[in-house]
Amino acid sequence: MEKILRNSFMFLSRNKMMTKLAKRYGLRFGASRFVAGDTIDHAINVIKELNSKGLDVTLDYLGEFIEDVQEANEMADNCIKAIEAIGNHRLQSQVSLKLTSMGLDISEEVVLQNMRRILTAAKRHQIFVTIDMEDYSRCEKTLEIFKTLRREYTNIGTVLQAYLYRTVKDIEELNEYNASLRLVKGAYKESHKVAFPEKKTVDKNYMQIIKMHLLNGNFTAVATHDDAIIQYTKTLVKTHRIPLEQFEFQMLYGIRPEKQLEIVKEGYKMRVYVPYGTDWYGYFMRRLAERPANVAFVLKGMFRK
Ligand code: FDA
Repeated sequence: MEKILRNSFMFLSRNKMMTKLAKRYGLRFGASRFVAGDTIDHAINVIKELNSKGLDVTLDYLGEFIEDVQEANEMADNCIKAIEAIGNHRLQSQVSLKLTSMGLDISEEVVLQNMRRILTAAKRHQIFVTIDMEDYSRCEKTLEIFKTLRREYTNIGTVLQAYLYRTVKDIEELNEYNASLRLVKGAYKESHKVAFPEKKTVDKNYMQIIKMHLLNGNFTAVATHDDAIIQYTKTLVKTHRIPLEQFEFQMLYGIRPEKQLEIVKEGYKMRVYVPYGTDWYGYFMRRLAERPANVAFVLKGMFRK
């Protein structure tokens, strides 16, 4: 049953009609548990509250799979506005974005132009930008764009997914770039031809890439809600005397908020990924696919709004 629900939510996450309707009608069905609001003002209030509790943030202006140049340019404009708001309010926040929202599916020229505008604005405010990793079909292109931009900017990082067979090799290759990486299990539905189908194997590969990247001396964000992986990382950094500045934990807004605070109290850095904006539908469906238990929450939300 859980597998059927998972697959249904992954299928729904790619539905263009639902994405359009969701944009028009605003946050619904309990999505506000995972999304900070429609506007930058909502997001700024959420960041202020998280910062006041000792939590750092990475802010994501939601958007993906954009096929129109003007829309991609507008996404970049909005991202720059978010960067300026973070800078002007002096918040402890970085920025995350998806390359398909900046024109990855349109052309290399469009995506690079938008990314250079964003990275230049971010550099002015000393803000770090992370390129999220999307589905496997965009992985190679995303890493090529990252490498190009990493040669020009130091305030850029990206994400690798433990479920992909290729990731160990990517960790080795990105060592040459001293890449700051967020390491995750992976959130998209992928074929067994490119990704480990078993959770157990994904977790094993996850631990391996965390160890490789940390012992290579690179900055590593361990982005997970999984206690076993968090404990593994704590033991690893203690054993190898890895300094606190070389790693951090990350979790998603609305997921395990008590655990987030507990980790801060223990003296570790915890960064919360805070999404906002009207394009919330795909993101929300992926969160439900990860944990169909959240459907009960959604049903309650349907009757509230
Ligand atoms: P796992 O799914 O095994 O969950 C472990 C435990 O965490 C569960 O048993 C449950 O207790 C809790 N939990 C997990 N999900 C929950 C939920 N939705 N609601 C409530 N509890 C939940 N992926 C990607 O492909 N590209 C990317 O760029 C990113 N970026 C990213 C940033 C950050 C900050 C995070 C935390 C995650 C991502 N991800 C991602 C998503 C990631 O790949 C993965 O899908 C989710 O983090 C869920 O996997 P966990 O590691 O949490 O473990």
